[in-house]
Amino acid sequence: MNQALLSHGPLSYLDQGVGPVLLLVHGFPLDHTLWREQMEPLSRSLRLIVPDLRGFGHSPLPTPPPEQWAMADHARDLVELLDHLKIQEPVAVCGLSMGGYITLALWKHWPQRVGRLLLVHTRAIADSEEVRRTRQQQAAVVLASGIGMIVEGILPRLLHPETLAQRPELVAFLRQMMNRSSQAGVAAALRGMAARPDMTPELRNIRVPTLVLVGEADAISRPDEMRSIAQAIPGSQFVQIADAGHLSPLEQPAAFNAAVVEFLGN
Ligand code: MLT
Repeated sequence: MNQALLSHGPLSYLDQGVGPVLLLVHGFPLDHTLWREQMEPLSRSLRLIVPDLRGFGHSPLPTPPPEQWAMADHARDLVELLDHLKIQEPVAVCGLSMGGYITLALWKHWPQRVGRLLLVHTRAIADSEEVRRTRQQQAAVVLASGIGMIVEGILPRLLHPETLAQRPELVAFLRQMMNRSSQAGVAAALRGMAARPDMTPELRNIRVPTLVLVGEADAISRPDEMRSIAQAIPGSQFVQIADAGHLSPLEQPAAFNAAVVEFLGN
């Protein structure tokens, strides 16, 4: 991977392909390999910038590790990465789940850097008080006892039941990806997600072309909720991927890639 030295330390990323830029922002508690099925096909016509978010994969948190790394902190890292790459024109940003929270923060704070939005398996609302409390408790457990509990708790919720039952290689790949995450990175992201604002009132102000994409069996960002996100964003497109849970880029890459290519081609 490449490494950019940013104001909060090194950030690792892939930079592959030639064409309009597509920034791919992974979810929690994942890393850039979430996008393994996009790299070759999409980089034929796009320049893919694919970071490990700070605290995940090969991108360390600052020392000493902060208790929380907010969605806007991640977004600032991404803006600095674009600066490092001398990309000043507005780019297409595709964020999955926590990556979608970060993408919305990027659009809100640095709208001039965003030319298109791809909001993938994500949510606009803030956490309820109960979810916030749970995330704080999970962060404490992770720091005290490791990330095993989070990994095993979230794994069955990420995939379509048939993917879980019939694709052991994919399940093992995902488990390994999550287990590479650091305790401090997972805890900081949990607290960062808990602190994120409600973006629902902002959706109507989005003026860039937007694709809203969900899996038909997504247990985390449910299709009805994502359809209402699409309805709130003027002129947005809504795509539902069959036979996918929360991770259609891995579970149904052909359908996901086709939706992205079609959206970016229009
Ligand atoms: C993710 O996939 O990034 C997380 O499940 C999002 C969340 O926990 O809200």
